[in-house]
Amino acid sequence: MKFTLKNLFVRKHIDLNAITDSKQGLEKNLSAFSLSMMGVGAIVGSGIFILPGILAAQYTGPGVMFSFLLAAVVCSLAALCYSEFSSTIPLAGSAYTYIYSIFGEFLAWILGWALISEYLFAVSSVAVSWSAYFQNILSGFGLKLPVALTAAAGTSSVPGAVFNLPAFIIVLLIALLLTGGITESTRVNNVMVLIKISVIILFVVVGAFYVKPSNWHPFLPFGFHGVLTGASVAFYAYIGFDAVSTASEEVKNPQRDMPIGIITSLIITTLLYTVLSTVLTGVVHYTKLNVDDPVAFALGLMNQNWVAGIISVGAVVGMTTVLLVMSYGGTRLLFAISRDGLLPKALMKLNRKTHVPVLNTWIFGLIAAVFAAIIPLDRIAELVNIGTLFAFALVSVGVVFLRKDKVLGNAPKSFKVPLYPYLPWLSFIFCIVLMTQLRLFTWVAFVIWLIIGLIVYFSYGYWHSLTRQEEE
Ligand code: ALA
Repeated sequence: MKFTLKNLFVRKHIDLNAITDSKQGLEKNLSAFSLSMMGVGAIVGSGIFILPGILAAQYTGPGVMFSFLLAAVVCSLAALCYSEFSSTIPLAGSAYTYIYSIFGEFLAWILGWALISEYLFAVSSVAVSWSAYFQNILSGFGLKLPVALTAAAGTSSVPGAVFNLPAFIIVLLIALLLTGGITESTRVNNVMVLIKISVIILFVVVGAFYVKPSNWHPFLPFGFHGVLTGASVAFYAYIGFDAVSTASEEVKNPQRDMPIGIITSLIITTLLYTVLSTVLTGVVHYTKLNVDDPVAFALGLMNQNWVAGIISVGAVVGMTTVLLVMSYGGTRLLFAISRDGLLPKALMKLNRKTHVPVLNTWIFGLIAAVFAAIIPLDRIAELVNIGTLFAFALVSVGVVFLRKDKVLGNAPKSFKVPLYPYLPWLSFIFCIVLMTQLRLFTWVAFVIWLIIGLIVYFSYGYWHSLTRQEEE
C-alpha cells in the first residue's frame, strides 16, 4: 500500500442494518435508567469533592455556581450533538466512530487519541483522589500506610512518597470487576450512585442550617472573566457523560434510550453541583476555601465530624463509580479503534462467555494504574479537559456534516438537535472558548500527546486500517 493524502480521509462505512443484529459483538443489556445511572456514575466523582472550594477561592468567589452552570450549558449543547450521533450510529467508540464516518480516518484517529488521553488520565487522576480520601478514612481508624506508599514521587504535599499503592490497587480492582461482564458491573454501579447522591444531599441538608448570607457578598469579586476561567476548570466535574454514548452497542433501544440517558444524567449532576456550591460558599467565606477537601473542611468548621466521616465514605464510593464507567469507556474505545485495525487486534478479542474484551481491559487498567501510582497528577486534570473539549468541538461540527451526508443524513434517528444548524455551531464555539482558557502547560502537554499519537498512527494504524483495505 502506498501513502497518499486521499487515504487519510477514507470514511468508515456504516452498515445501518448490521447495527440491529444483536447476535454479533457485544451483548445488549442496558436500559435508559441504567444509562442515566451510568452517566451520574461517570460524572460525579472527585470534581464535586475538590473543585468547588478551589474555584471559589481562586476564580469566581461565592458565585461559583455560575461556572458550574456555564460548564453545564457547554456540556448540554455537546450532549445534544452526541445524542443525535449516537441515535444515528449506535456503535461502540462514541465520538471516534462518529467522526470516522463523517470526516474520515485521520481526524478520527486524532480524536480517538485525544479521547484515550481523556479516559486514561481521568481514571488516573480520580484514582489519586480516591486514594487520598481512602487514606483519610483509614487514618480515622488509626491505620497508616508507610509514607513511601501513600503517593507518587514528587507529590509536593507528601515528601518521601514513592508509589501510590491504594491508587494502583483500586484501578486494578475495577479492571477485575469489568472483566466479570457488564450486567454485574452496572448493578454494582447503580447502588454506588445512590450512595453518592445521598451523601451530597446529606451535606446540603446539614450545611443549610449553617449558611450565613453575608458570606455571599461580594457575589462575583472576580467578574465574568473569573466565571469563564472557572467554567473551563469546572468542566472536569462534568466529564464522563460522553462515556455513556460509548455504550450504545450494548443498549437495548439506543434510538430512544441514549438521548434520555445523557440528558437526564446532566440535569441531575448540574442540580447537585450548583446546590452544593451554593451551600458551601454560604457556610464558609470563599477566601478560606482554597483547600483540597472543601466539603470535609466546611463540616469540620460546623463541628459535624460524624457527617464528615460519612461523606468521606460516600466520596470514596462516588469516585469508585467514576473509575468504573471511565475505565469501561476507555476499554470500549480501544475496542472500537482496534476493530478498525488502527491498533493491534488483540485489543478487540472478546471473551466467548462474557462478551467482554478481557485483555484490552487488563492493558488499559494496568497503564492507568501505573500512571496513577507514579505521576503526581495535580496538573493532569486540565489535560483531561482539553482532550474532551477537543472531542466535543469536533462532534458538534460533525453534526452539521452528518445532516448533509447522503447516506447517514437520511438514516432513521429518534433524536435530532433542535435549532439546527445554530446549536451545533454554538456548541463548537463554546468548546473552543473554554479551551482557550486553559493554561499554557496544558496546551503544551496536549500537543506532545498528539505528536505521540501521530507517530503511532503513521507507524502502525495507517498500514493496518481495515476501512481502507475494504475500499481497495
Ligand atoms: N467528572 C469526573 C469527576 O469529577 C472526572 O471525578
